[in-house]
Amino acid sequence: MILSGTMQINSKQHLEIGGCDTVALAEEFGTPLFIMDEEQMRKNCRRYLQAMQENYPRGKIIYAGKAFLVLAMASLIKEEGLGLDVVSGGELYTALKAGFPPEHIFFHGNNKSRTELSEALKAKVGTIIVDSLSELKELLELSRGREQKVPIYLRIKPGIDTHTHDYIQTGQDDSKFGLGFSKAIGAVRLVLSAAPYLDLKGFHCHIGSQIFQLEPFRLAARAMVGFMAEVRSETGYVAPELDLGGGLGIRYLKNDDPPSIEKFVQVITAAVKETAKREDFPLPKLLLEPGRSISGEAGITLYRVGVIKDIPGGRSFASIDGGMTDNIRPALYQAGYEAMVANKALQQPTKKVTVAGKACESGDLLIKDIYLPPLQKNDLLAVFSTGAYCYSMASNYNRNPRPAVIFVNNGKARVVVRRESYDDLIGLDVL
Ligand code: LLP
Repeated sequence: MILSGTMQINSKQHLEIGGCDTVALAEEFGTPLFIMDEEQMRKNCRRYLQAMQENYPRGKIIYAGKAFLVLAMASLIKEEGLGLDVVSGGELYTALKAGFPPEHIFFHGNNKSRTELSEALKAKVGTIIVDSLSELKELLELSRGREQKVPIYLRIKPGIDTHTHDYIQTGQDDSKFGLGFSKAIGAVRLVLSAAPYLDLKGFHCHIGSQIFQLEPFRLAARAMVGFMAEVRSETGYVAPELDLGGGLGIRYLKNDDPPSIEKFVQVITAAVKETAKREDFPLPKLLLEPGRSISGEAGITLYRVGVIKDIPGGRSFASIDGGMTDNIRPALYQAGYEAMVANKALQQPTKKVTVAGKACESGDLLIKDIYLPPLQKNDLLAVFSTGAYCYSMASNYNRNPRPAVIFVNNGKARVVVRRESYDDLIGLDVL
């Protein structure tokens, strides 16, 4: 059992979150249901801000919207005083519609379209993180055309390998993201010499996601400050800002033991300070971009158990009313999850089952071989740590409507995304 934040078992032996009984939530809002513990998300934001404040007062925390971004989330992030990292015109639009201050928006992406770049310029976003030479040239042209000063970072590949799934590793040399050191120095020269409207503020890197070791972060911080010193000696340019991305892992399984937010911030800031001192480089403004470690553990998904199949001599399958359409991570990354029967929270887990999704796809198995109390149809299964990269990666495969998302806090629940209807599903179809 991996209860976090406000999750606990109540006197009815039901799982409770944000002071709300999950059995009652399923009745009221239906299943599958994403439930986000608002207090836990706010606490995580504050832990990041405080750790930064204590270790590195010239720091800034930016939430990576790709983990989970809807209007209510953008608004929560704004209230907590973080910046926001967006990676598409759609995320940018969501942020602006939520009233997020554009000057605190950071626009990422390895293949931003001309339209998206123009939208970002029009909105006057705080910083555009340039990923390639061709994007740089396009932006040079657009900024000149609009006679608009555009603050930018260049995204760098620091050449760090991390021990995470290949698909979520991004800082290595042959990654599709960013520029290698030598290309980046060329880009700096170009900006300094021929881009009057581009305001180069500094550099960005992001080495990967769901990382448990602190060493790769330390190495990346050192490599980036070292690179900034190299840029200074090659071109005379002294970068005032450094954005080291996100990537801190969270607890999905009982035995997962990720470093704390505080330790993560402390190790990175120490590495930046040490290297800057060694290189005699002025301390840059430092940014971190956590996504998963803010929203991940705060979310659970509630499913209703349907068909149960005991295969003689084989597995026992418990099918739920969602699956890969609301959580693609097991199928895509072989990601593991813990679960609990929310209406039988204290019963002994004596039966080994495989939790199967409802998509027409043999690979739609949400959890392989988990011990749960003996299941019956209509039991409620709560899957933990689904607050990041689940709703944001959800699909309508098999024309399954996407679930509702609710925020819970202090015994109150509010819908932040309504459940899709069949009419929503055909809403864009043209006959
Ligand atoms: N900054 C940049 C530039 C990123 O690319 C990412 C994540 C983050 C920040 C936030 O990283 P976090 O703190 O959440 O680890 N869909 C995958 C994860 C992809 C992460 C992509 N980039 C998954 O479900 O595991």
